[in-house]
Amino acid sequence: MNLMKLDEKEVKLFSAIRFAAEQLLNDKETPVLIVTHLDADGLSAGGIIASTLARANIPFQVQVKRQLEDEIIESIADLQPPRIIFTDFGSGQFVRLKEKFKDSSVIILDHHPPIENDESPLVDNWAHVNPHLVGIDSSHEISGAGLAFFFAQEIDPKNNDLAVLGIVGAIGDRQEGEENKFSNLNQMMVEEGLKSNLLNSFTGIRLFGRETRPIHRILQYSTEPFIPDITGNEDNAVRFLKEIGIPLKEGDRWRTIADLTKQERTIFTSALVKKMILGGVSPNEAKKIVGPNYILNNEELGSPLRDAREFSTFLNACGRLGKPSIGIAVCMGDRGYVFKQGIEISNQYRGEISDFLIFLEDNIESITEFDGMFYLNAKTEIKDTAIGTIASIAMGNRIIDPSKPLIMAALSDDSSLKMSGRGTNELVARGLDLGQAMREALAKINAGDEGGGHNVAAGARIAQELEEPFIQALNEIISLQLTE
Ligand code: C5P
Ligand code: ZN
Repeated sequence: MNLMKLDEKEVKLFSAIRFAAEQLLNDKETPVLIVTHLDADGLSAGGIIASTLARANIPFQVQVKRQLEDEIIESIADLQPPRIIFTDFGSGQFVRLKEKFKDSSVIILDHHPPIENDESPLVDNWAHVNPHLVGIDSSHEISGAGLAFFFAQEIDPKNNDLAVLGIVGAIGDRQEGEENKFSNLNQMMVEEGLKSNLLNSFTGIRLFGRETRPIHRILQYSTEPFIPDITGNEDNAVRFLKEIGIPLKEGDRWRTIADLTKQERTIFTSALVKKMILGGVSPNEAKKIVGPNYILNNEELGSPLRDAREFSTFLNACGRLGKPSIGIAVCMGDRGYVFKQGIEISNQYRGEISDFLIFLEDNIESITEFDGMFYLNAKTEIKDTAIGTIASIAMGNRIIDPSKPLIMAALSDDSSLKMSGRGTNELVARGLDLGQAMREALAKINAGDEGGGHNVAAGARIAQELEEPFIQALNEIISLQLTE
């Protein structure tokens, strides 16, 4: 790492990373339990750490969890692990972890806001690494996977190749900023990838399957962005292309986006942006279909792993459909049988998401407007594991009015209600902090402590009977945040 390029805060972060790396390298015999978060960022982070330990000949095991709630912490404690690395979560529970694992050696590599300030983040057998602790923006500059990557690089500079997974994780956590570009530490990973020729980056149309899939299929299956009228509707996708004069076939072969001529590409992009805006998508969101693409040079043409954004969706699908170990194995390099299973899962997931979005579009009228937020309980129409993704897409693509945050709920198999809230940067600038609001609302009505997150995106789980008081409390808190 070229320390000359780092600012003061980054230098502090890197010295924390070095402390953690030294702690790990002190002992190459004792097995390490890696515990990581279920989303794409968490799986990338877990995969990076697993590869790093495998390469360093340190024995390890990986566990993937949806959240670090009390029960989970208990179940980990039951294993009496001598050494643990938590990635992409842990800071929200660090007080409990410090207490529960005082006899173990613990490393936390997380970017979620800590519940309180850790007065002694780096002491014997305790390395708590979090950009918040040194004042770095953890929603745009570095994610869990990024921390894992810089940690891996500190363990051995040969781990440079893992930078691409750091990028996949950052994309999963939507860390791209203005003009969809990365900044600072995230951008440093991009440069690392370019330098080693593992990555290729270019600005262009950002739709999945650009090089391999028929254009109308790409449009039909596009959930991010969601294209009003077109996502989920093959006929409309075909009609749209015909209307703008783009032939679907060349002889017998379906054309791909890569086949488009320069002129066709311009027509296609501007017509698509126009279509989205007319369908209610904000101009800024619509423009996101053009921007940087990150291509993983070593992945095969047509593979969902070749495009970093698609890789991230692939991991997300593995996690959300209950197969996180497939995601970890793929991050560790499996491209055989396990990977093929992953492809099936990701196709299944794509289908589900587009069905859920169509449900949402058909039920816009059922959304309740409160003073401080919009609310929709999708019950069992949307899976609890997908509710956060759907709320993100709905908010990001302005399927609903962005002037207030959107809270969505889904009923889980165990009859609890999974809540997901999503806001916008504009709302955050006006005082919105959804993570704080979720925690306060839970406390106010004694609904447990499974809730929290970031200012712009947060979640919670409550007993079904508490829906009404919870929503009321949440609305009051958010209204207050937005008027203060
Ligand atoms: O679950 P959902 O996707 O809605 O969560 C949004 C964000 O809030 C995620 O980053 C998640 O890790 C965080 N979160 C949290 N604690 C919870 C629930 C969600 O930190 N109990
Ligand atoms: Zn993350």
